[in-house]
Amino acid sequence: MALNQKEESLIKDLQEQEKLCIQKYTRYAEMAHDEELENLFNTLRENEINHYEALLAIKNNDTTSPQIKHLNAAEYNPKGFHTASCNSRAKEDDAYLCTDSIATEKYISTSYNEDLFQFASTAVRDTLNQIQTDEQNHAEMIYKYKVANGMA
Ligand SMILES: [Fe+2]
Ligand SMILES: [Fe+2]
Repeated sequence: MALNQKEESLIKDLQEQEKLCIQKYTRYAEMAHDEELENLFNTLRENEINHYEALLAIKNNDTTSPQIKHLNAAEYNPKGFHTASCNSRAKEDDAYLCTDSIATEKYISTSYNEDLFQFASTAVRDTLNQIQTDEQNHAEMIYKYKVANGMA
């Protein structure tokens, strides 16, 4: 089922948000002081690329749309690099990257939750719902990193 004009513009906006996530995690992986955090941002980046491709498939009415590859936040157990008592600039910088990323995930998760109510197709709603769950998982993984590093 082809998208109507309103649906198409919502998908385009979500694609822009995913693009921002991809750019953000690319940059943040470079900026992270801790290698564990660098790896986390790279993992999240791959997942955002998957989201972008899933949205592209929806926009192109491509029924062979890519599977959403879920990350499992429950299985993520980051090692602590920064200590609770440490007040270094590196820790402050990494904490900022985490807090800003969580804010972005919260915003995009809300967008998916609101936008999916506007779609006629059950399959599209299901995909958007799966991506929303993913964004919550991303935020949870970053939060777990913060806890393990005395930042939360
Ligand atoms: Fe995403
Ligand atoms: Fe995300």
